[in-house]
Amino acid sequence: MKITCTHHAMHQAGGAASLLFVFEDAFSSRAARLGPLEKTAGPWIKKTGWTGKLHRVALIPTASETGPAFILLAGLGKKKDFHPGRLEQAAAAATRTAGHSKVHSLALPALELVPDNALPPPEALRAILRGVAAGAYSFSQFKTSKSKTPAQETDVILAGLRRPGAELQKAMDEGRIVAEIFAEVRDIANLPANEATPSIITQKVRVLARRHGLSFRLLDQAALRHEKCNALLAVAQGSRNPPCVIELTYKGRTRQQAPIVLLGKTITFDSGGISLKPGKGMEWMKFDKCGGMAALAATLAAARLKLDRPVIGMLAIAENMPGGNATRPGDIVRARSGKTIEILNTDAEGRLILADALSLAAEHKPSAIIDLATLTGAVVVALGHAASGLMGNNQNLLDELQHAGKACGDPLWPLPLWPDYRDDIRGQFADIKNIGEGSAGTIIGGIFLREFVPDSIPWAHLDIAGTAWLESTKPYGAVGATLAGAKLLIEWMARKPGR
Ligand code: BES
Ligand code: ZN
Ligand code: ZN
Repeated sequence: MKITCTHHAMHQAGGAASLLFVFEDAFSSRAARLGPLEKTAGPWIKKTGWTGKLHRVALIPTASETGPAFILLAGLGKKKDFHPGRLEQAAAAATRTAGHSKVHSLALPALELVPDNALPPPEALRAILRGVAAGAYSFSQFKTSKSKTPAQETDVILAGLRRPGAELQKAMDEGRIVAEIFAEVRDIANLPANEATPSIITQKVRVLARRHGLSFRLLDQAALRHEKCNALLAVAQGSRNPPCVIELTYKGRTRQQAPIVLLGKTITFDSGGISLKPGKGMEWMKFDKCGGMAALAATLAAARLKLDRPVIGMLAIAENMPGGNATRPGDIVRARSGKTIEILNTDAEGRLILADALSLAAEHKPSAIIDLATLTGAVVVALGHAASGLMGNNQNLLDELQHAGKACGDPLWPLPLWPDYRDDIRGQFADIKNIGEGSAGTIIGGIFLREFVPDSIPWAHLDIAGTAWLESTKPYGAVGATLAGAKLLIEWMARKPGR
Protein backbone atom coordinates (compact mmCIF):
# COMPACT_ATOMS: atom_id res chain seq x y z
CA MET A 1 0.00 0.00 0.00
CA LYS A 2 1.48 3.29 -1.15
CA ILE A 3 0.32 6.35 0.78
CA THR A 4 1.07 9.75 -0.69
CA CYS A 5 0.13 13.38 -0.20
CA THR A 6 -0.60 16.01 -2.84
CA HIS A 7 -1.51 19.67 -2.78
CA HIS A 8 -3.91 19.06 -5.66
CA ALA A 9 -7.60 19.08 -4.89
CA MET A 10 -9.56 15.83 -4.85
CA HIS A 11 -10.67 15.87 -8.47
CA GLN A 12 -7.11 16.48 -9.66
CA ALA A 13 -5.32 14.24 -7.19
CA GLY A 14 -4.87 11.38 -9.62
CA GLY A 15 -6.75 8.62 -7.82
CA ALA A 16 -8.85 6.25 -9.89
CA ALA A 17 -11.64 7.08 -7.45
CA SER A 18 -12.38 9.86 -4.99
CA LEU A 19 -13.44 8.34 -1.70
CA LEU A 20 -15.82 10.27 0.51
CA PHE A 21 -17.30 9.12 3.79
CA VAL A 22 -20.81 10.24 4.60
CA PHE A 23 -23.17 9.99 7.54
CA GLU A 24 -26.60 8.58 7.00
CA ASP A 25 -28.48 11.38 8.73
CA ALA A 26 -28.99 14.62 6.84
CA PHE A 27 -27.41 13.07 3.81
CA SER A 28 -27.30 15.04 0.59
CA SER A 29 -24.87 15.40 -2.24
CA ARG A 30 -23.81 18.69 -0.67
CA ALA A 31 -23.08 17.01 2.60
CA ALA A 32 -20.90 14.64 0.64
CA ARG A 33 -18.52 17.54 -0.12
CA LEU A 34 -18.18 16.62 -3.76
CA GLY A 35 -16.99 20.00 -4.97
CA PRO A 36 -16.81 20.10 -8.76
CA LEU A 37 -17.65 16.41 -8.85
CA GLU A 38 -21.15 17.23 -7.66
CA LYS A 39 -22.23 17.78 -11.27
CA THR A 40 -22.06 14.08 -12.01
CA ALA A 41 -22.71 12.54 -8.63
CA GLY A 42 -25.41 14.93 -7.43
CA PRO A 43 -28.09 13.81 -9.88
CA TRP A 44 -27.14 10.17 -9.39
CA ILE A 45 -27.59 10.45 -5.65
CA LYS A 46 -30.95 12.19 -6.04
CA LYS A 47 -32.20 9.67 -8.53
CA THR A 48 -31.19 6.57 -6.61
CA GLY A 49 -32.07 7.87 -3.17
CA TRP A 50 -28.76 6.49 -1.87
CA THR A 51 -28.01 7.35 1.74
CA GLY A 52 -24.99 6.71 3.90
CA LYS A 53 -26.14 3.58 5.71
CA LEU A 54 -23.27 1.74 7.37
CA HIS A 55 -21.43 -0.62 5.00
CA ARG A 56 -23.27 0.77 1.97
CA VAL A 57 -21.04 1.86 -0.85
CA ALA A 58 -21.79 3.70 -4.07
CA LEU A 59 -19.35 3.56 -6.95
CA ILE A 60 -20.44 6.31 -9.34
CA PRO A 61 -18.80 6.65 -12.76
CA THR A 62 -17.90 10.27 -13.54
CA ALA A 63 -17.23 10.09 -17.28
CA SER A 64 -14.56 12.69 -16.57
CA GLU A 65 -11.54 12.68 -18.85
CA THR A 66 -9.15 14.41 -16.53
CA GLY A 67 -10.50 13.65 -13.07
CA PRO A 68 -11.15 10.38 -11.27
CA ALA A 69 -13.07 7.69 -13.13
CA PHE A 70 -15.31 7.13 -10.12
CA ILE A 71 -16.69 8.76 -7.06
CA LEU A 72 -16.82 6.32 -4.22
CA LEU A 73 -19.22 7.09 -1.40
CA ALA A 74 -18.99 5.06 1.79
CA GLY A 75 -21.74 5.15 4.40
CA LEU A 76 -20.85 5.58 8.06
CA GLY A 77 -24.35 5.11 9.48
CA LYS A 78 -25.85 7.52 11.97
CA LYS A 79 -23.58 10.17 13.37
CA LYS A 80 -24.52 9.45 16.96
CA ASP A 81 -23.43 5.81 16.58
CA PHE A 82 -20.10 6.68 15.01
CA HIS A 83 -16.85 5.14 16.27
CA PRO A 84 -13.45 4.37 14.73
CA GLY A 85 -14.40 0.75 14.06
CA ARG A 86 -17.24 1.90 11.83
CA LEU A 87 -14.89 4.12 9.85
CA GLU A 88 -12.53 1.19 9.37
CA GLN A 89 -15.37 -1.05 8.22
CA ALA A 90 -16.67 1.60 5.84
CA ALA A 91 -13.19 2.03 4.37
CA ALA A 92 -12.89 -1.73 3.99
CA ALA A 93 -16.29 -1.98 2.30
CA ALA A 94 -15.40 0.84 -0.09
CA THR A 95 -12.05 -0.75 -0.93
CA ARG A 96 -13.64 -4.14 -1.60
CA THR A 97 -16.25 -2.62 -3.89
CA ALA A 98 -13.64 -0.55 -5.70
CA GLY A 99 -11.36 -3.56 -6.06
CA HIS A 100 -14.10 -5.54 -7.79
CA SER A 101 -14.13 -2.82 -10.46
CA LYS A 102 -10.34 -2.86 -10.67
CA VAL A 103 -10.04 0.47 -8.90
CA HIS A 104 -6.84 0.30 -6.90
CA SER A 105 -6.06 3.90 -5.99
CA LEU A 106 -8.22 6.09 -3.81
CA ALA A 107 -7.99 9.83 -3.25
CA LEU A 108 -9.29 11.26 0.02
CA PRO A 109 -9.67 14.83 1.25
CA ALA A 110 -6.76 15.15 3.68
CA LEU A 111 -8.19 18.02 5.66
CA GLU A 112 -11.58 16.48 6.28
CA LEU A 113 -11.27 12.72 6.05
CA VAL A 114 -14.63 12.30 7.77
CA PRO A 115 -17.43 14.88 7.76
CA ASP A 116 -16.91 17.62 10.36
CA ASN A 117 -13.68 15.85 11.35
CA ALA A 118 -15.76 13.65 13.64
CA LEU A 119 -12.40 12.01 14.36
CA PRO A 120 -9.14 13.99 14.38
CA PRO A 121 -7.33 13.43 11.04
CA PRO A 122 -4.44 11.25 12.32
CA GLU A 123 -6.85 8.93 14.12
CA ALA A 124 -9.23 8.88 11.19
CA LEU A 125 -6.37 8.12 8.82
CA ARG A 126 -5.19 5.21 10.94
CA ALA A 127 -8.69 3.72 10.90
CA ILE A 128 -9.08 4.30 7.16
CA LEU A 129 -5.71 2.74 6.34
CA ARG A 130 -6.53 -0.31 8.44
CA GLY A 131 -9.81 -0.56 6.55
CA VAL A 132 -8.24 -0.15 3.13
CA ALA A 133 -5.72 -2.86 3.94
CA ALA A 134 -8.44 -5.17 5.26
CA GLY A 135 -10.66 -4.49 2.25
CA ALA A 136 -7.86 -5.20 -0.20
CA TYR A 137 -6.88 -8.45 1.52
CA SER A 138 -7.97 -11.83 0.29
CA PHE A 139 -6.69 -15.31 0.90
CA SER A 140 -6.65 -17.08 -2.43
CA GLN A 141 -3.47 -19.10 -2.53
CA PHE A 142 -5.38 -22.37 -2.78
CA LYS A 143 -7.68 -21.18 -5.57
CA THR A 144 -6.29 -22.66 -8.75
CA SER A 145 -7.93 -20.02 -10.92
CA LYS A 146 -6.81 -16.71 -9.48
CA SER A 147 -8.48 -14.58 -12.13
CA LYS A 148 -11.51 -13.89 -9.99
CA THR A 149 -9.68 -12.50 -7.02
CA PRO A 150 -6.46 -10.94 -8.19
CA ALA A 151 -4.47 -9.95 -5.16
CA GLN A 152 -3.83 -6.27 -5.62
CA GLU A 153 -2.89 -3.66 -3.12
CA THR A 154 -4.80 -0.40 -2.97
CA ASP A 155 -2.96 2.92 -2.84
CA VAL A 156 -4.13 5.95 -0.92
CA ILE A 157 -3.67 9.57 -1.97
CA LEU A 158 -4.30 12.36 0.50
CA ALA A 159 -5.51 15.33 -1.51
CA GLY A 160 -5.37 19.01 -0.69
CA LEU A 161 -2.31 18.90 1.54
CA ARG A 162 1.18 19.78 0.40
CA ARG A 163 2.97 18.18 3.31
CA PRO A 164 1.60 16.14 6.16
CA GLY A 165 2.21 17.37 9.70
CA ALA A 166 4.23 15.18 12.04
CA GLU A 167 1.16 13.45 13.47
CA LEU A 168 -0.33 12.66 10.09
CA GLN A 169 3.03 11.48 8.77
CA LYS A 170 3.26 9.13 11.73
CA ALA A 171 -0.20 7.77 11.00
CA MET A 172 0.77 7.24 7.35
CA ASP A 173 3.93 5.33 8.28
CA GLU A 174 2.11 3.29 10.90
CA GLY A 175 -0.68 2.48 8.48
CA ARG A 176 1.72 1.19 5.85
CA ILE A 177 3.74 -0.92 8.27
CA VAL A 178 0.75 -2.42 10.03
CA ALA A 179 -0.96 -3.20 6.71
CA GLU A 180 2.11 -5.10 5.53
CA ILE A 181 2.44 -7.09 8.74
CA PHE A 182 -1.27 -7.90 8.94
CA ALA A 183 -1.32 -9.24 5.39
CA GLU A 184 1.69 -11.46 6.11
CA VAL A 185 0.32 -12.80 9.37
CA ARG A 186 -3.21 -13.27 8.05
CA ASP A 187 -1.71 -15.42 5.30
CA ILE A 188 -0.43 -17.76 8.04
CA ALA A 189 -3.54 -17.53 10.21
CA ASN A 190 -5.76 -18.54 7.28
CA LEU A 191 -3.78 -21.67 6.45
CA PRO A 192 -5.58 -24.97 7.00
CA ALA A 193 -4.16 -27.23 9.70
CA ASN A 194 -2.43 -29.58 7.23
CA GLU A 195 -0.48 -26.62 5.87
CA ALA A 196 0.16 -25.08 9.28
CA THR A 197 1.46 -27.77 11.60
CA PRO A 198 3.48 -26.62 14.60
CA SER A 199 6.73 -27.12 12.70
CA ILE A 200 5.50 -25.28 9.60
CA ILE A 201 4.32 -22.38 11.73
CA THR A 202 7.67 -22.34 13.46
CA GLN A 203 9.48 -22.05 10.13
CA LYS A 204 7.23 -19.25 8.97
CA VAL A 205 7.54 -17.32 12.22
CA ARG A 206 11.31 -17.70 12.07
CA VAL A 207 11.31 -16.11 8.62
CA LEU A 208 9.11 -13.23 9.77
CA ALA A 209 11.21 -12.65 12.89
CA ARG A 210 14.35 -12.40 10.82
CA ARG A 211 12.76 -10.13 8.22
CA HIS A 212 11.43 -7.72 10.83
CA GLY A 213 14.51 -7.74 13.04
CA LEU A 214 13.42 -9.68 16.13
CA SER A 215 15.32 -12.36 17.95
CA PHE A 216 13.85 -15.83 17.83
CA ARG A 217 14.02 -18.56 20.44
CA LEU A 218 12.50 -22.01 20.10
CA LEU A 219 11.65 -24.35 22.94
CA ASP A 220 11.09 -27.67 21.21
CA GLN A 221 9.48 -30.74 22.73
CA ALA A 222 12.69 -31.82 24.44
CA ALA A 223 13.15 -28.37 25.95
CA LEU A 224 9.53 -28.35 27.11
CA ARG A 225 10.12 -31.71 28.81
CA HIS A 226 13.21 -30.30 30.43
CA GLU A 227 11.16 -27.31 31.60
CA LYS A 228 8.49 -29.63 33.02
CA CYS A 229 5.73 -28.15 30.85
CA ASN A 230 3.62 -31.25 31.39
CA ALA A 231 0.24 -29.58 30.91
CA LEU A 232 1.29 -28.28 27.52
CA LEU A 233 2.84 -31.61 26.56
CA ALA A 234 -0.33 -33.45 27.59
CA VAL A 235 -2.34 -31.53 25.01
CA ALA A 236 0.00 -32.46 22.18
CA GLN A 237 0.55 -36.13 22.96
CA GLY A 238 -2.38 -37.35 20.87
CA SER A 239 -0.88 -35.77 17.77
CA ARG A 240 2.06 -36.88 15.62
CA ASN A 241 3.12 -33.24 15.42
CA PRO A 242 5.24 -32.23 18.41
CA PRO A 243 4.45 -29.01 20.28
CA CYS A 244 6.74 -26.07 20.89
CA VAL A 245 6.93 -22.59 22.35
CA ILE A 246 8.34 -19.67 20.40
CA GLU A 247 9.65 -16.47 21.93
CA LEU A 248 10.20 -13.42 19.76
CA THR A 249 11.99 -10.57 21.42
CA TYR A 250 11.98 -6.91 20.54
CA LYS A 251 14.44 -5.13 22.79
CA GLY A 252 12.68 -1.76 22.83
CA ARG A 253 14.31 1.62 22.79
CA THR A 254 14.83 1.98 26.52
CA ARG A 255 16.57 -1.18 27.45
CA GLN A 256 16.29 -1.03 31.20
CA GLN A 257 12.54 -1.50 31.22
CA ALA A 258 10.81 -4.76 32.01
CA PRO A 259 9.22 -6.30 28.92
CA ILE A 260 5.58 -6.77 28.09
CA VAL A 261 4.75 -10.37 27.22
CA LEU A 262 2.13 -10.99 24.54
CA LEU A 263 1.21 -14.66 24.76
CA GLY A 264 -1.01 -16.41 22.22
CA LYS A 265 -2.83 -19.73 22.21
CA THR A 266 -1.66 -21.38 19.01
CA ILE A 267 -3.58 -24.62 18.66
CA THR A 268 -3.04 -25.51 15.01
CA PHE A 269 -6.13 -27.71 15.11
CA ASP A 270 -8.55 -28.38 17.93
CA SER A 271 -10.37 -31.66 17.35
CA GLY A 272 -11.21 -31.71 21.07
CA GLY A 273 -8.94 -34.74 21.57
CA ILE A 274 -10.60 -37.74 23.24
CA SER A 275 -13.41 -35.36 24.26
CA LEU A 276 -13.98 -35.16 20.52
CA LYS A 277 -15.90 -32.23 19.11
CA PRO A 278 -18.98 -32.84 16.96
CA GLY A 279 -18.20 -33.06 13.24
CA LYS A 280 -20.36 -30.15 12.21
CA GLY A 281 -18.30 -26.99 12.14
CA MET A 282 -15.11 -28.68 13.32
CA GLU A 283 -13.29 -27.27 10.29
CA TRP A 284 -13.34 -23.82 11.92
CA MET A 285 -10.97 -25.14 14.56
CA LYS A 286 -8.09 -24.49 12.18
CA PHE A 287 -8.53 -20.95 13.51
CA ASP A 288 -7.75 -22.03 17.06
CA LYS A 289 -4.26 -20.64 16.43
CA CYS A 290 -5.52 -17.07 16.13
CA GLY A 291 -4.44 -15.95 19.60
CA GLY A 292 -0.86 -16.72 18.64
CA MET A 293 -1.28 -15.02 15.29
CA ALA A 294 -2.55 -11.82 16.96
CA ALA A 295 0.35 -11.89 19.44
CA LEU A 296 2.73 -12.39 16.52
CA ALA A 297 1.30 -9.47 14.52
CA ALA A 298 1.40 -7.12 17.52
CA THR A 299 4.98 -8.09 18.41
CA LEU A 300 6.22 -7.60 14.84
CA ALA A 301 4.43 -4.25 14.71
CA ALA A 302 6.01 -3.12 17.98
CA ALA A 303 9.44 -3.81 16.51
CA ARG A 304 8.78 -2.18 13.16
CA LEU A 305 7.17 0.87 14.75
CA LYS A 306 10.18 1.09 17.09
CA LEU A 307 7.98 1.45 20.15
CA ASP A 308 9.60 2.31 23.47
CA ARG A 309 9.07 -0.73 25.58
CA PRO A 310 10.56 -4.17 25.07
CA VAL A 311 8.08 -6.81 23.96
CA ILE A 312 8.26 -10.57 24.06
CA GLY A 313 5.83 -12.34 21.77
CA MET A 314 5.21 -15.91 22.95
CA LEU A 315 3.42 -18.56 20.93
CA ALA A 316 2.38 -21.75 22.70
CA ILE A 317 1.93 -24.16 19.81
CA ALA A 318 0.32 -27.60 19.77
CA GLU A 319 -2.19 -29.72 17.90
CA ASN A 320 -5.06 -31.26 19.87
CA MET A 321 -5.74 -34.70 18.40
CA PRO A 322 -7.23 -37.98 19.67
CA GLY A 323 -4.33 -40.29 18.71
CA GLY A 324 -3.44 -43.51 20.51
CA ASN A 325 -1.25 -41.74 22.99
CA ALA A 326 -3.76 -38.97 23.66
CA THR A 327 -4.53 -37.69 27.13
CA ARG A 328 -7.65 -39.32 28.59
CA PRO A 329 -10.37 -37.63 30.63
CA GLY A 330 -9.35 -38.16 34.24
CA ASP A 331 -5.62 -38.01 33.58
CA ILE A 332 -3.67 -35.93 36.08
CA VAL A 333 -0.60 -33.86 35.17
CA ARG A 334 1.71 -31.69 37.21
CA ALA A 335 2.04 -28.32 35.54
CA ARG A 336 5.35 -26.47 35.41
CA SER A 337 4.22 -24.32 38.35
CA GLY A 338 3.94 -27.45 40.52
CA LYS A 339 0.13 -27.49 40.62
CA THR A 340 -1.57 -30.73 39.69
CA ILE A 341 -4.41 -30.66 37.17
CA GLU A 342 -7.16 -33.18 36.59
CA ILE A 343 -7.90 -33.10 32.88
CA LEU A 344 -11.62 -33.85 32.86
CA ASN A 345 -12.21 -32.58 29.35
CA THR A 346 -9.46 -32.76 26.77
CA ASP A 347 -11.27 -30.11 24.73
CA ALA A 348 -10.44 -27.49 27.38
CA GLU A 349 -6.88 -27.62 26.04
CA GLY A 350 -6.14 -23.94 25.53
CA ARG A 351 -5.95 -23.28 29.25
CA LEU A 352 -3.58 -26.24 29.65
CA ILE A 353 -1.02 -24.99 27.16
CA LEU A 354 -1.39 -21.45 28.48
CA ALA A 355 -0.94 -22.58 32.08
CA ASP A 356 2.63 -23.64 31.39
CA ALA A 357 3.28 -20.79 28.97
CA LEU A 358 2.14 -18.30 31.62
CA SER A 359 4.65 -19.82 34.05
CA LEU A 360 7.38 -19.41 31.44
CA ALA A 361 6.24 -15.85 30.74
CA ALA A 362 6.35 -14.92 34.42
CA GLU A 363 10.04 -15.80 34.52
CA HIS A 364 10.84 -12.81 32.34
CA LYS A 365 9.69 -10.61 35.25
CA PRO A 366 7.49 -8.69 32.81
CA SER A 367 5.71 -5.43 33.55
CA ALA A 368 2.57 -7.05 32.15
CA ILE A 369 1.41 -10.28 30.55
CA ILE A 370 -1.42 -10.24 28.06
CA ASP A 371 -2.67 -13.52 26.74
CA LEU A 372 -4.91 -13.90 23.72
CA ALA A 373 -6.86 -17.08 23.15
CA THR A 374 -9.81 -18.54 21.28
CA LEU A 375 -10.54 -20.10 24.64
CA THR A 376 -14.27 -20.69 25.04
CA GLY A 377 -17.39 -21.11 22.94
CA ALA A 378 -19.14 -19.49 25.89
CA VAL A 379 -17.73 -16.07 25.07
CA VAL A 380 -19.69 -16.21 21.82
CA VAL A 381 -22.84 -16.83 23.86
CA ALA A 382 -22.02 -13.88 26.12
CA LEU A 383 -20.79 -11.28 23.63
CA GLY A 384 -21.40 -12.64 20.15
CA HIS A 385 -18.96 -11.43 17.56
CA ALA A 386 -18.97 -7.77 18.55
CA ALA A 387 -16.33 -7.79 21.28
CA SER A 388 -13.67 -9.99 22.84
CA GLY A 389 -13.94 -10.99 26.50
CA LEU A 390 -11.59 -9.22 28.91
CA MET A 391 -10.45 -10.56 32.27
CA GLY A 392 -7.42 -10.12 34.49
CA ASN A 393 -5.91 -9.29 37.84
CA ASN A 394 -5.18 -5.57 37.51
CA GLN A 395 -7.92 -3.01 37.02
CA ASN A 396 -5.58 -0.37 35.69
CA LEU A 397 -4.31 -2.64 32.93
CA LEU A 398 -7.86 -3.75 32.08
CA ASP A 399 -9.00 -0.13 31.82
CA GLU A 400 -6.10 0.76 29.55
CA LEU A 401 -6.75 -2.17 27.25
CA GLN A 402 -10.47 -1.54 27.08
CA HIS A 403 -9.78 2.08 26.27
CA ALA A 404 -7.32 1.14 23.52
CA GLY A 405 -9.83 -1.32 22.06
CA LYS A 406 -12.49 1.33 21.91
CA ALA A 407 -10.18 3.85 20.29
CA CYS A 408 -9.28 1.55 17.39
CA GLY A 409 -12.46 -0.45 16.84
CA ASP A 410 -11.19 -3.71 18.35
CA PRO A 411 -13.48 -3.73 21.37
CA LEU A 412 -13.20 -5.62 24.64
CA TRP A 413 -15.85 -6.17 27.27
CA PRO A 414 -15.03 -7.10 30.86
CA LEU A 415 -16.11 -10.15 32.80
CA PRO A 416 -15.37 -10.53 36.52
CA LEU A 417 -12.90 -13.00 38.06
CA TRP A 418 -14.41 -12.91 41.55
CA PRO A 419 -12.89 -15.31 44.09
CA ASP A 420 -16.34 -16.90 44.44
CA TYR A 421 -15.83 -18.67 41.11
CA ARG A 422 -12.70 -20.41 42.33
CA ASP A 423 -14.61 -23.25 44.03
CA ASP A 424 -15.79 -24.41 40.64
CA ILE A 425 -12.38 -25.69 39.59
CA ARG A 426 -11.35 -27.30 42.88
CA GLY A 427 -10.10 -30.77 41.97
CA GLN A 428 -11.43 -33.99 43.45
CA PHE A 429 -8.24 -35.98 42.88
CA ALA A 430 -5.78 -33.15 42.12
CA ASP A 431 -5.32 -29.49 43.03
CA ILE A 432 -7.53 -28.17 40.27
CA LYS A 433 -9.54 -29.47 37.34
CA ASN A 434 -9.56 -28.00 33.86
CA ILE A 435 -13.33 -27.45 33.63
CA GLY A 436 -16.01 -26.14 35.98
CA GLU A 437 -19.51 -27.40 36.53
CA GLY A 438 -20.76 -25.83 33.33
CA SER A 439 -21.88 -22.28 33.96
CA ALA A 440 -19.89 -19.08 33.38
CA GLY A 441 -17.63 -20.92 30.94
CA THR A 442 -15.59 -17.92 29.88
CA ILE A 443 -15.00 -16.73 33.43
CA ILE A 444 -13.97 -20.23 34.49
CA GLY A 445 -11.37 -20.17 31.72
CA GLY A 446 -10.01 -16.93 33.18
CA ILE A 447 -10.15 -18.27 36.74
CA PHE A 448 -8.13 -21.30 35.66
CA LEU A 449 -5.47 -19.21 33.92
CA ARG A 450 -5.11 -16.89 36.91
CA GLU A 451 -3.82 -19.86 38.94
CA PHE A 452 -0.64 -19.68 36.88
CA VAL A 453 0.08 -15.97 37.13
CA PRO A 454 1.82 -14.49 40.18
CA ASP A 455 -0.44 -11.82 41.73
CA SER A 456 2.43 -9.35 41.52
CA ILE A 457 2.41 -9.33 37.71
CA PRO A 458 -0.35 -7.34 35.99
CA TRP A 459 -2.08 -9.78 33.69
CA ALA A 460 -4.95 -9.64 31.23
CA HIS A 461 -6.68 -12.43 29.37
CA LEU A 462 -8.46 -11.73 26.08
CA ASP A 463 -10.94 -14.40 24.99
CA ILE A 464 -11.15 -13.84 21.24
CA ALA A 465 -13.19 -16.94 20.33
CA GLY A 466 -16.02 -14.77 18.94
CA THR A 467 -13.91 -12.22 17.10
CA ALA A 468 -10.88 -14.06 15.72
CA TRP A 469 -12.44 -15.03 12.39
CA LEU A 470 -15.41 -14.35 10.13
CA GLU A 471 -17.39 -17.39 9.02
CA SER A 472 -18.53 -15.72 5.81
CA THR A 473 -17.40 -12.77 3.76
CA LYS A 474 -18.95 -9.51 4.93
CA PRO A 475 -19.05 -6.17 3.14
CA TYR A 476 -16.18 -5.06 5.35
CA GLY A 477 -14.02 -8.15 5.36
CA ALA A 478 -13.13 -11.47 3.84
CA VAL A 479 -14.04 -14.78 5.45
CA GLY A 480 -11.28 -16.05 7.73
CA ALA A 481 -8.86 -14.70 10.30
CA THR A 482 -9.33 -11.10 11.46
CA LEU A 483 -6.36 -10.81 13.84
CA ALA A 484 -8.72 -9.44 16.50
CA GLY A 485 -6.73 -8.32 19.50
CA ALA A 486 -3.66 -7.30 17.51
CA LYS A 487 -5.00 -3.85 16.66
CA LEU A 488 -5.82 -2.96 20.24
CA LEU A 489 -2.46 -4.20 21.47
CA ILE A 490 -0.67 -2.02 18.94
CA GLU A 491 -2.86 0.91 19.93
CA TRP A 492 -2.15 0.26 23.62
CA MET A 493 1.60 -0.11 23.19
CA ALA A 494 1.96 2.85 20.82
CA ARG A 495 -0.20 5.37 22.63
CA LYS A 496 0.70 4.51 26.19
CA PRO A 497 3.64 6.32 27.73
CA GLY A 498 6.32 3.98 29.08
CA ARG A 499 6.08 3.04 32.71
N1 BES B 1 -11.10 -23.72 20.88
C1 BES B 1 -12.20 -24.00 21.71
C2 BES B 1 -13.11 -22.80 21.94
C3 BES B 1 -13.91 -22.33 20.78
C4 BES B 1 -15.14 -22.91 20.49
C5 BES B 1 -13.49 -21.28 20.02
C6 BES B 1 -15.89 -22.43 19.44
C7 BES B 1 -14.25 -20.79 18.98
C8 BES B 1 -15.45 -21.37 18.69
C9 BES B 1 -11.74 -24.46 23.08
O1 BES B 1 -10.58 -25.17 23.12
C10 BES B 1 -12.81 -25.35 23.63
O2 BES B 1 -13.07 -26.34 23.03
N2 BES B 1 -13.41 -24.93 24.72
C11 BES B 1 -14.46 -25.66 25.32
C12 BES B 1 -14.29 -25.58 26.83
C13 BES B 1 -15.17 -26.49 27.59
C14 BES B 1 -14.81 -27.92 27.32
C15 BES B 1 -15.04 -26.16 29.05
C16 BES B 1 -15.79 -25.05 24.90
O3 BES B 1 -15.87 -23.83 24.75
O4 BES B 1 -16.73 -25.80 24.68
ZN1 ZN C 1 -10.92 -27.27 22.76
ZN1 ZN D 1 -9.24 -24.76 21.51
